[in-house]
Amino acid sequence: MPAIISKASGKIILFGEHAVVYGYPAIAVPIDTIQVKVSILPAIKKEQSIIKLRNINWQDNILFTSLDENDPIRISIINVFALIDHTPPHFDMTISSSIPIAAGLGSSAALAVAITKGMSQFLGIYLSNDKINALAYKSEEIQHGSPSGIDNSVITFGRPILYSKTKNISQIEIKNVIHIILADSGKRTLTKDVVALVKKNLEKNPDFIKPILAEIGGLVEEAAEALLHGRIKIIGSLMVRNHIALKKLGVSSIELDQLVESALENGALGAKLCGGGKGGYMVAICDPASCERISSGLVADGATHIISTKIVGSKKENNLC
Ligand code: MEV
Repeated sequence: MPAIISKASGKIILFGEHAVVYGYPAIAVPIDTIQVKVSILPAIKKEQSIIKLRNINWQDNILFTSLDENDPIRISIINVFALIDHTPPHFDMTISSSIPIAAGLGSSAALAVAITKGMSQFLGIYLSNDKINALAYKSEEIQHGSPSGIDNSVITFGRPILYSKTKNISQIEIKNVIHIILADSGKRTLTKDVVALVKKNLEKNPDFIKPILAEIGGLVEEAAEALLHGRIKIIGSLMVRNHIALKKLGVSSIELDQLVESALENGALGAKLCGGGKGGYMVAICDPASCERISSGLVADGATHIISTKIVGSKKENNLC
């Protein structure tokens, strides 16, 4: 039997992180240049299942039965096993990923989506994207507490999306290719902790926090319109406003602010932190001609890693689910 191979991309949130947890809309796009790859074969040692983790710097082989009860890999596998009514066969699963972990780029959601897709194929079960998304959300919930669901949704559907917890997910149209630079602040934070911090601050000081969440949510409609018409300068200025609001919300960091400033000083059209914040990556958009200068500036100003890539325009707007 040939190996079952499944892949899932990373993501960035272009507009609306944190506010999306409180029901406001947000825009997210998949980033195909970073991916989780899962391959599954029937077990070589017939009596046990093995998870093989492969990364650039290290490798590990773990027995499936020795994974912690709340291990995200185990949860994603168990969620699929729950759909069959017989004992699942033993398997050898190899997982490799180029998505930086705990960096705001969707590594945990991509892992959940790739495992769910791969394991369902291995077991011969057809799962719709809606079902894959729902199972990936279950796995995210265990790790993150109360995620909005935007990360697993953009990664499952693999298209730019306009997402809100209460409405259908719709694909959004992006007129032109947008050149982006992702820069690593070098710090790692768990989204769960930053989401909990915002919740605590909201409870302590609702009069201050609520308007900031509303302000972030309020940028999204204008941003979707600007993306649709390819108004790159407006997109850039909305990103800067989004970053300033996230900073007021208390989820930026000295390093992220410094990188945003550096990108703008070197000619970026817009820049902001992306994802949970307090560390991880920032995203800048730029004219192709200025990308190199911006990247060099970011490295000089402390970025520990740069990913240069593009957001590719998608064609039509429709409901995905
Ligand atoms: C994380 O990528 C985005 C947050 O808004 C959390 C969430 O939506 O679950 C910070």
